Amino acid sequence: MQNSLWLYGAEPLSLNTLSSSLNCDVCIVGGGLTGVYTAYLLAKKGVDVVLLEANSSVAFGTTAHSTGKLTPQHGTVFQQLLTTFNEDEARTYYKANVSAIEQALKHVTVDIFQRADSYLYATTEQGVDSIKKELEAYKKLGIPGVETKDTELPFEVNTALKMENTTQIHPTKFTNHFAKLAIKEGAKFFVNTRVTKLIIEENRLITESELEVSFKSIVLATHYPIEAVKGLHLAKLSIDRSYLMATKTSELLKGQYLSTDNTSRTIRTALIENQPYLIFGGSSHIAGVVQNTQTYYETLEKEMIATFDLSKPEFLWSAQDPNTADYIPYVGRISASEPRIYIATGYRKWGLSNSLVAGEIISTEITSGKHIAQHLYSPSRNLFGKTFMRMLKAIGFTVSSLAEGYLMRIEAPKCTHLGCKTQWNEGDETWDCPCHGSRYDKFGNVIEGPAVYPLKLE
Ligand code: FES
Repeated sequence: MQNSLWLYGAEPLSLNTLSSSLNCDVCIVGGGLTGVYTAYLLAKKGVDVVLLEANSSVAFGTTAHSTGKLTPQHGTVFQQLLTTFNEDEARTYYKANVSAIEQALKHVTVDIFQRADSYLYATTEQGVDSIKKELEAYKKLGIPGVETKDTELPFEVNTALKMENTTQIHPTKFTNHFAKLAIKEGAKFFVNTRVTKLIIEENRLITESELEVSFKSIVLATHYPIEAVKGLHLAKLSIDRSYLMATKTSELLKGQYLSTDNTSRTIRTALIENQPYLIFGGSSHIAGVVQNTQTYYETLEKEMIATFDLSKPEFLWSAQDPNTADYIPYVGRISASEPRIYIATGYRKWGLSNSLVAGEIISTEITSGKHIAQHLYSPSRNLFGKTFMRMLKAIGFTVSSLAEGYLMRIEAPKCTHLGCKTQWNEGDETWDCPCHGSRYDKFGNVIEGPAVYPLKLE
């Protein structure tokens, strides 16, 4: 596995492993930004919270493999939202993200974030067309944004759409900061504590070391809901994989960039231990369908070196992002019939600001309040009528691969989640499951769920 820049220079928090069974009001499974921020908001309201993280540290998984852009400019999401939602709903998505970011920043010291303008840029006709449509959507929704051709990028752009005064963060430091605040407010955090079974009817879960946690409510903040709730939610997400790299540079950029061309690219800089780094990425594809992901890294590397005249990257990492069919994450109470279970998933590459929205929604619902985006993000929203075709596309992939995994005798090991055939990923040296995105290291150990058991490699 190659390393993320965000795991370098950020001291992991020293936290205990669960050593005895316990009871709590709210148990949060998953120590990424969503779980940690939800724990913080709940603990601040006096709720008795326990957070369980399977890895050895919080902010180790998806959060540490992001771009660190904390912005409400989520690609071209607003033109897409307007094809499914009305203007008020699309505006609510924007407002919820802006407000969640600004609220969180009130509790963060200035060394953990920087203000940076966010740009969408285009170098092709198709990219320009997409920016024009996004600008139209901004105008309709009252979102501040200006069209410009002025950027600091070392190449000409045909056009760009600038959203001023957004934010970029060091995602690991940012999450660790909120973990410390949550613990200070009384939340209990445990690492190296993998949940293997959830017994919903009895309000309890079992960990790998056979300990029990009893709860009144549970929050599944595991990027993709864990195996224990299979059937409730699984077929509604598709998973994308994209690639990032970082290399030393001499200057920091003032903006953060994303292209709207077909071959999308993401660009920003970060100052790590007084050294500026350029972060460059893109090349997304459906997770688990590509065997040799090394070629994606190589393509990006060549392009980065040629475009920015920099040396080979020192850090390479990839991110997996679950997508919902209607572009809005599933956040909140999983269904009216399961009032004790909360989930947060489907962030579609915009997990940092959506994690903050998720923390607000879930902590508000648990404490019986109302949040402006609660209905919009609800996992039980009924949009099948309007988005049926798109849903079919997202589900179709999952279902066919699932069937293949069950029905065919294959050589690749079967995923221990629901039995799909995994694929060897040469670039990252991992076994990847195309169905719901589980990943295993070369020895078969789980890197990322929903699977919780190791592969049988014979
Ligand atoms: Fe679900 Fe592999 S079958 S992640």
